[in-house]
Amino acid sequence: MLTNDPFWYKDAIIYQVSIRSFFDSNGDGNGDIPGLTQKLDYISWLGANTIWLLPFYQSPLKDGGYDISDFRQVHPDFGTIDDFQIFLDEAHKRGIRVITELILNHTSDQHFWFQEARKDRNSPYRDYYVWSDTDARYSDARIIFTDTERSNWTWDHDAGQYFWHRFFSHQPDLNYDNPCVQQEMKDILAFWFDMGVDGMRLDAVPYLYEREGTNCENLPETHAFLKELRSFLDENWENRLFLAEANQWPDDVRPYFGDGDECHMAYHFPVMPRLYIALRKEQRRPIVDILCQTPDIPPSCQWCMFLRNHDELTLEMVSDDERDYLYNEYARDPRMRINIGIRRRLAPLLDNSRRRIELMNALLFSLPGTPIIYYGDEIGMGDNIYLGDRDAVRTPMQWSGDRNAGFSRCDPQALCQPIVRDPIYPYEAVNVETQERLPTSLLWWMKRAMAVRNEYPVFGRGSIRFLHPENESILAFLREDADSRILVIANMSRFAQATTVDLSEFAGLYPVDLFGRVAFPEITEYPYQFTFGPHNFFWFELRSVD
Ligand code: BGC
Repeated sequence: MLTNDPFWYKDAIIYQVSIRSFFDSNGDGNGDIPGLTQKLDYISWLGANTIWLLPFYQSPLKDGGYDISDFRQVHPDFGTIDDFQIFLDEAHKRGIRVITELILNHTSDQHFWFQEARKDRNSPYRDYYVWSDTDARYSDARIIFTDTERSNWTWDHDAGQYFWHRFFSHQPDLNYDNPCVQQEMKDILAFWFDMGVDGMRLDAVPYLYEREGTNCENLPETHAFLKELRSFLDENWENRLFLAEANQWPDDVRPYFGDGDECHMAYHFPVMPRLYIALRKEQRRPIVDILCQTPDIPPSCQWCMFLRNHDELTLEMVSDDERDYLYNEYARDPRMRINIGIRRRLAPLLDNSRRRIELMNALLFSLPGTPIIYYGDEIGMGDNIYLGDRDAVRTPMQWSGDRNAGFSRCDPQALCQPIVRDPIYPYEAVNVETQERLPTSLLWWMKRAMAVRNEYPVFGRGSIRFLHPENESILAFLREDADSRILVIANMSRFAQATTVDLSEFAGLYPVDLFGRVAFPEITEYPYQFTFGPHNFFWFELRSVD
């Protein structure tokens, strides 16, 4: 059963799932909702208590379902609305909350509204979208899908005008200056919250409004609308959540929290690439710098942290030099690149190094915020950079060494995406069943790390304070609340390192390793000496021992 805590998202570990790629229950080659329901016990066993679902609505599936043609229908490949209700109830029975997608910014061009709008200038739906006789308006708005789109305007022959789109040209943007659009979105939100979903990810939220002379991002009108949406939420439902997808600098994301009256959570986009930079440069500085530049957020709010997701590893929130560095270090092959980012999974990005994978996850779980695990990364799945768009990282979950990696009983040729065949990441070994049998597997390590995190709410709720060891490869910070004090200390270098840290304020206490419960020597007023193997990290509770 679910706890009755409005701040549940602070203690969450989120598991991100693409239903299409997770588990196929009826053997048609597509993952589906009943398949996901069957795997709830696995997600719960792993230690996640929240699931974020990629879109599963009616859609031509030209953008992974972010191109919606009916906001209230489930795509028939994935099941029915009744299947979804069963899934939701089963998740809730296990104490698992569910976050779904609210795609506010655009629809598919196959949506009824757009079909009507393009047919007839006098249709009430015409004004649901943004039209123009020229393609010269809003020229300061950047193009997001740089690999496929040349302009944010596309000529529509039937309509006899250009329409505005921030993403693919088959995804027309909705017109938020039209109160009917605002009302439609509230009704859609109500439909899903009434069914019982616990949270909604507000997709592509910076782009709702357009204004000449601006870059059409983060406009005051957008924040005013979000505040209205939040009041609507608070007036009608309890313990629900908005998660903002705003790929922006920390100062521009901060307003999405408002004064605690907009979104409850927002992704911390800029910290993510800096984790990868810090790892490759073997320096703590990129992580410390970005977190020190991150403004405080209202007490009811929370950052969402991630290493990977269903999109490219986006490199928009870095400098040009940093972007070149990341491309060079992590995506030498041009096929690994898409738009402004890198389409690879976690294990391949980290050269399948177990130490690096553990280190990066340890940071994900211990830096301030709520962590998200992208399905398959808990077993170190590989990717397939020969697939189109971002499908490289959306291949079927690997459940066993059986046909189709246990994902589906279908003819292998009928699979929605091919199983990863890369010999470095063979599904015969990289799968849940095999790793469950092996106590030293990555899967078991992830499960243990998550269990420790779940045991110490300070990771989700506590403050952060950086320490400054003289060795620049060593990242050290304290997570503190009224109940506990955790020292996280990590070696970003691939070589053994030693350092001293001034822990004199804790003299008399002992660092107790949270994994093995082993007490290290007592802290005194003298500098404390640590030694590390390559990419080693520790989570120490600083406490007295009896
Ligand atoms: C989603 C993408 C999608 C885009 C357009 C994003 O923010 O994460 O997968 O392509 O929105 O809907």
